[in-house]
Amino acid sequence: MIKVGIIGCGKITQVRHAPEYAENSNCKIVAFYDNQFERAEALAKEYGAVACKTMDELLGMDLDAVSVCVANVAHAEVSIKALNKGKHVLCEKPMATTVEECVAMIEAAEKNNVQLMIGQNQRFAKAHVKAHELIQNGAIGKVLTFRTVFGHPGPEGWTGEANSWFFDKKIAHFGAMADLGVHKTDLIHYLLDDEIVEVISAIRTLDKKFPDGTPISVDDNSYCIYQTKNGAIGTMHVSWTFYGNEDNSTVIYGTEGIIKCYADPEASLIVEKPNGDVERYALDQMTSNKEQTNNGRTNTGVIDCFVDSIVNNKEVPISGKEASKAMRVVLAAEESAKLNAAVKVKY
Ligand SMILES: NC(=O)c1ccc[n+]([C@@H]2O[C@H](COP(=O)([O-])OP(=O)(O)OC[C@H]3O[C@@H](n4cnc5c(N)ncnc54)[C@H](O)[C@@H]3O)[C@@H](O)[C@H]2O)c1
Repeated sequence: MIKVGIIGCGKITQVRHAPEYAENSNCKIVAFYDNQFERAEALAKEYGAVACKTMDELLGMDLDAVSVCVANVAHAEVSIKALNKGKHVLCEKPMATTVEECVAMIEAAEKNNVQLMIGQNQRFAKAHVKAHELIQNGAIGKVLTFRTVFGHPGPEGWTGEANSWFFDKKIAHFGAMADLGVHKTDLIHYLLDDEIVEVISAIRTLDKKFPDGTPISVDDNSYCIYQTKNGAIGTMHVSWTFYGNEDNSTVIYGTEGIIKCYADPEASLIVEKPNGDVERYALDQMTSNKEQTNNGRTNTGVIDCFVDSIVNNKEVPISGKEASKAMRVVLAAEESAKLNAAVKVKY
């Protein structure tokens, strides 16, 4: 039985981290901390844990692992503090805001001989797991091209705050490009077992405004053309301005067929072959932000996997080192948008 603390008690903790730890019989939530104390207090009451007044109080407790669920700009600082206290860390995405921060997090985990996992939960979605297996087994031959999309009406619907911190560059650092783009960039790395090595991007703030009518200080749309090490090319569109249903689809085109993930309301995975054969798999459907907000919870599998790795002394499946590759691509995309030119990803 491992003992867990959670830092940051907002939406992602309320709908994922806390309920998923609570349902896992190999762990126990011992403490919560949030710089809005009442949020920690409410969760502590609900889960029979302690609400800490400071982060140091939580990190001074006898804990094996810590979830870091604070705003983006604090991911690195909080994770490094926890790692330096000898705790295993599950940090939410985006991993950090600079390559230097990512490297410092990885080094802190190595130095303290503890594990660092990043919550890139798209890797656990059933259709993605199956697509990965099929692609690696050659079901669609060599991958030539792909297109991946992640769009919804915006994070204000998720947190329920019109003046969301997700819109504020000082706290979020990135907009849709890192909020959603880091998911799909990491997903392409996973599905193709490949690395994006060059990017051309257009990153814009097209529509979102603060309540006073001024444009938000981060992007709300990003289009990227990705080139991979193995020679595939593809596009990624991420958006906070899909003012209807969420689009979470990914299509991979190979020399011997096509795989479509979450592109159909019934079949979450479709395999199409050149001879016209079509295989449809009804595995699961992505839980939209709206559904998670309404139901108040979901199950991503991320927490179970993190706990299992710690309990059984196995390497976490999405290590800091692995997740930092997608951050390097996101940062290269931002440079590309600024320069209006292709940018090579620095690994
Ligand atoms: N994996 C996913 O799909 C997914 C989905 C949503 C959010 N997230 C990530 O989770 C993180 C939290 O997002 P959220 O939706 O829960 O936001 P939220 O605003 O609902 O909650 C964030 C909480 O962190 C607290 N906080 C911020 N900075 C802090 C600090 N330095 N110390 C202590 N507490 C601090 C805030 O008071 C707030 O209660 C973000 O980085 C976000 O990108 C991931």
